[in-house]
Amino acid sequence: MTVSNLTSPAFRLEAITRPNILLLEPYRCARDFSVSDYKTGVLLDANENAYGPSVYTSDVASSKDPSRLIETDLIAGLHRYPDPHQEDVKQLLCDLRNAPNKGKSNIIPLTPDNLYVGVGSDECIDTVIRCFAAPGRDKMLTCPPTYGMYSVSAQVNDVEVVTVNLDLETKGFPLRVDKVMEALSNDSSIHLVYLCSPGNPTASLVDPESVKKILTHPTWNGIVVVDEAYIDFSPAGSSIAPLVTEYDNLIVMQTLSKAFGMAGIRLGASFASSPVTRILNNVKAPYNISSLTSTLALKALSPSGLSNMHKNIDAIVSQRARLLEELPKIPGIGNFIGGDASNFLLVQILDKPRGVPSSPTALRLYETLAVTKGVVIRYRGKEPGCVGGLRITVGTEEENTILLEKIKETLLEIYSS
Ligand SMILES: Cc1ncc(COP(=O)(O)O)c(C=O)c1O
Repeated sequence: MTVSNLTSPAFRLEAITRPNILLLEPYRCARDFSVSDYKTGVLLDANENAYGPSVYTSDVASSKDPSRLIETDLIAGLHRYPDPHQEDVKQLLCDLRNAPNKGKSNIIPLTPDNLYVGVGSDECIDTVIRCFAAPGRDKMLTCPPTYGMYSVSAQVNDVEVVTVNLDLETKGFPLRVDKVMEALSNDSSIHLVYLCSPGNPTASLVDPESVKKILTHPTWNGIVVVDEAYIDFSPAGSSIAPLVTEYDNLIVMQTLSKAFGMAGIRLGASFASSPVTRILNNVKAPYNISSLTSTLALKALSPSGLSNMHKNIDAIVSQRARLLEELPKIPGIGNFIGGDASNFLLVQILDKPRGVPSSPTALRLYETLAVTKGVVIRYRGKEPGCVGGLRITVGTEEENTILLEKIKETLLEIYSS
């Protein structure tokens, strides 16, 4: 396997891949690529139902109503297994992430060979562990406070988690890159580092220079995963996905669940070098992405889908600015302890107006809002560095008006009780 110039000299993919995965002969499904695979004609090779989908109705097929076109699109062909490789979806994802670097001759563009797509990025998170950290033997490193699924997936895979907290004393929770480097120098059984940029719940971007420092660690052999689930709420050009063509030990995960507003279709993507991607694709279930998902993903990634996405991002960014301005005017609201690079904010709740951050008060506010006021946000007071912390997703203008009103009203009730 060839290694790109910038990758750490210590990186040896074979040495960190689970031995059973290295030996794996991937399942070849009926709709796989190969000269001997056929996608049209009398298809009697995959034990599908040639009589068609049971939800098919002739009125949908013959309808001239344009609002039913999408229904027709979704139902047609449902009796056939989906494309196992999802080349069209992958190409559009590459086009999206190549766009900022178009015309730059020094940057190798992403191609579908750099992509593995999964059932949400949650599946991608798990697949990476299943490939590169052996149960009961290897470890992975996370930087709390961070997304909870990294440690859940690690536990499911019987992979120990080593933690190096983000800098809990500094606003925005920057990465303590030297501490991470040190942990990696001291423990060669750590095969994976999971970073979240922008972080959940921190809403701060990880400095790309810090990521590059880890990627070029002089002695550590492992892979850095950067989860960019919220990247499109950050300033344009913040994604480091294009770097996977330069660093063979980098995986960048993204999802259609957030900025695209398509959480229901479950589509996540992992960008990586082609040798890493090949391993991820060998392990996946043959038809993990349904035809319903890919049909809708193609629409979301089309020019009109992207234009809708950008309109929604603009609205969210402007509502985020409104919450940043309006929330601090409410007595009992403390500091924003995270950044503002995502579609949520992390704010501290005080024990009394002009008091100190208090997790019991934050918990009481969270519970009262959810149980009696119909407003559901997330309590984060138990996370490292998040005393009194609530994570608030930016809603629509109307939702945010209700949120601001209800928080003000409930804090008054709490303080006067
Ligand atoms: C940081 C982060 N990564 C991944 C996910 C999961 O995304 P998906 O819906 O693509 O599984 C979430 C969901 O909240 C998240 O916050």
